[in-house]
Amino acid sequence: MITEEVLVRSINRLIRLIWVLILCAFTSIVLHLTGTKIKWLETGFRENPVHKEPTSFQDSKPPVSGSGTQLWQAPDTASIPSTPRGDLIRYGRDLISHTSMFLGPKGKVANISNGMNCQNCHLKAGTVPFGNNYGRVAAVYPQFRNRSGTVEGFEKRVNDCIERSLNGQKLDENSREMKAMVAYLKWVGKDVGLEESFNGLGLIPLQLLDRPADPIRGNEVYIKFCARCHGENGEGELAKNGLEWLYPPLFGEDSYNTGAGLYRISMFASYVKYNMPYGVTFENPFLSDEEAWDVAAYVNSMARPEKDLSGDWPDISKKPFDHPFGPYADGFLEEQHKYGPFGPIKAVYQ
Ligand code: HEC
Ligand code: HEC
Repeated sequence: MITEEVLVRSINRLIRLIWVLILCAFTSIVLHLTGTKIKWLETGFRENPVHKEPTSFQDSKPPVSGSGTQLWQAPDTASIPSTPRGDLIRYGRDLISHTSMFLGPKGKVANISNGMNCQNCHLKAGTVPFGNNYGRVAAVYPQFRNRSGTVEGFEKRVNDCIERSLNGQKLDENSREMKAMVAYLKWVGKDVGLEESFNGLGLIPLQLLDRPADPIRGNEVYIKFCARCHGENGEGELAKNGLEWLYPPLFGEDSYNTGAGLYRISMFASYVKYNMPYGVTFENPFLSDEEAWDVAAYVNSMARPEKDLSGDWPDISKKPFDHPFGPYADGFLEEQHKYGPFGPIKAVYQ
């Protein structure tokens, strides 16, 4: 016999159960919504796994160039004046942030580049400390460069990255686009003088390994920490609008060519150490130095567009230690110039 008391108790239990279910459903909806929102806000960022690899190698600390040096910070964009000059600077910043929209395969001004944006490599329009920023450009250009054996102006340097990093064709030096990018470079570096030694300008080299960087170990690093954004074949992923990359390519036909700065593994390693996986900062790097060198060796051992470099380095004794193509003035082979160990090569020049 079911007494009234038992009945009331069961009904109460049922009500409690329903409340719990409602609460669960509500929480999961909230979690789902905020989760989606976070993802939506941070396109470009997929969560990193926890990572602490044991390493035998003493890791580079964020390097500081001398005591009392100040970390470089880009000027505030709100301070760009409301003048025709200011408009040019703002246009230059847009061109550097969204190069592909203007100059890429479907660009609205010209179709002269591979679809990458300058800021894929010069993060946040070239304003991030240790993020291959443009801090020192205004102070040092025009300057003599050994790669071309000539004095290069801003325009030549910009076109260098267009022809190599963007695997494209030169922009007319008198075009509004070139003038705008140069105006921006001059503005963003305006507070850096030749004498001041700010910290964090451009790219800061890592300590050298005492072994060759290893593409096979680098492949493991790549699969673990890079492929989920840059793709298993380095192919990247286009943004929804199809006009620029959400995750830019690292190798293959849409990537930088063999004449680009990143094709030197010292540059690649230092860029990646302090900036990748995306979201990492120089204060809180994720990869060990060894992983950074090895993944650089792996990525730069994969196929990519080739550039005719016969005009580069008219004085071969001025080639950097990790320039991956001979002939060389020292007795070391191309293989060692590409992957290291670099210590013995550098020693020759000291
Ligand atoms: C694939 C990566 C990549 C892309 C894309 C790229 N760059 Fe670069 N850029 C580099 C690297 C690496 C260096 C440093 C090379 C060196 O020091 O030899 C560099 C150097 C420069 C410098 C000289 C910096 C200095 O401190 O001396 C300028 C200026 C520059 N890039 C402008 C541009 C512009 C403008 C674009 C877009 C049109 C662009 N870059 C696109 C990788 C890239
Ligand atoms: C969370 C996604 C993500 C992960 C993981 C990631 N990257 Fe990136 N990476 C990006 C994004 C986004 C950019 C472009 C940044 C921008 O345009 O502001 C980028 C840019 C780059 C670039 C310069 C542009 C190019 O395509 O040449 C290199 C080199 C690079 N990443 C290497 C790596 C390496 C190596 C790893 C693994 C250690 C890695 N990344 C992991 C998202 C990621």
